[in-house]
Amino acid sequence: MKQDTLLAQAGARRDPATGAITMSICPSAAFQHPALGQSTGFDYSRTTNPTRKALEETMAALEGGARAVAFASGLAAVDAVMRLFSPGDAVLVTEDIYGGSYRLFERFGRTHGLHFVYIDTSKTENIAEGLKRNKFKGIFAELPTNPLLKVADLKALGTLAKEYGLLLVVDNTFLTPVLCRPLDFGADITLYSATKYLGGHNDLIAGLAVAKTQETGERLAFIQNAAGAILSPFESWLLLRSLKTLPLRLKKHEENALTVAEFLQKHRAARNVRYPGLPTDPGHALLTAQASGYGGIISFDAASRAEAERILASVRVFLFAESLGACESLITYPHIQTHADIPPEARERAGLTERLLRLSVGLEDPSDLLDDLSYALQGP
Ligand SMILES: Cc1ncc(COP(=O)(O)O)c(C=O)c1O
Repeated sequence: MKQDTLLAQAGARRDPATGAITMSICPSAAFQHPALGQSTGFDYSRTTNPTRKALEETMAALEGGARAVAFASGLAAVDAVMRLFSPGDAVLVTEDIYGGSYRLFERFGRTHGLHFVYIDTSKTENIAEGLKRNKFKGIFAELPTNPLLKVADLKALGTLAKEYGLLLVVDNTFLTPVLCRPLDFGADITLYSATKYLGGHNDLIAGLAVAKTQETGERLAFIQNAAGAILSPFESWLLLRSLKTLPLRLKKHEENALTVAEFLQKHRAARNVRYPGLPTDPGHALLTAQASGYGGIISFDAASRAEAERILASVRVFLFAESLGACESLITYPHIQTHADIPPEARERAGLTERLLRLSVGLEDPSDLLDDLSYALQGP
């Protein structure tokens, strides 16, 4: 079945006893055994749960993976993937990665003997050079990056990962499998903060990891059960429900984002407007080749920190908040919010300046969004 069909019917045909079209929420912690040594396939909900299973199977099918594993948050999914590595292993990581992933790598990964080297993953030649010089076990790439929206060449990453025998992990939170399927390009695992577009309504926190092979999927499921950061039956149901409208929402996010990006590009108070949907964006051609859309995230620089603060205080339709990918348009100040845990030198080096603002363009009427930005950017 095509993705739209899989999504529209997510959770259907799972209850032959009643014929329920909507997947039900199964809160049972434990399941009765038919007899000693027998199982219905469900024993204890940390290990597997019917509602979570429906979500995981939908995501695996959507992504073209062997197995999906649902976690209590996006970071719990990143954490589980990190546990696939062993002490002494080194991983190449996108330099302007989400600040929470950076914090996890540096504060926990390092204490468990892992090493992380941060690099601009949109520059394939730098990665190739890095791999020649040092021994790595994995690449962890965000695509497009949060918040600078740089685009890595997935095919090239897949080829390099194969050549060097690396685990290639792609955080695809910004695009979702509807717009891009990294496993098709050679990734071993696709990761999601499902809190964002997959959930799409600012009403749940969730994470997903989708593995290309059954073997990697089983290792992740083992970690999910052993460490216990599972997604609850209620959140699994809510996410499954949200997925049904994902393609429609993404279309509107993108339409609105392009309108906003074009507006910002012409506005003298907005500098370095980054949106891969703009034909002038450095990542446009590459993303066009490997995705069927560009998503709804834009970032730009205000003239100064004071100006960025003034814009944050002036918006009336955009909400000043720290997330993305939901119906409501949000504006974020990465420097001291989402990316506060990245040391100042590393932030500056990566271009995460104190003038940078990130927009998550929602589903509102675009004229309200333009009026709002027009007012906020016009200055005193
Ligand atoms: C790209 C990306 N990956 C992972 C995460 C972490 O996800 P969560 O907040 O659901 O734990 C985020 C959160 O903002 C994100 O933007």
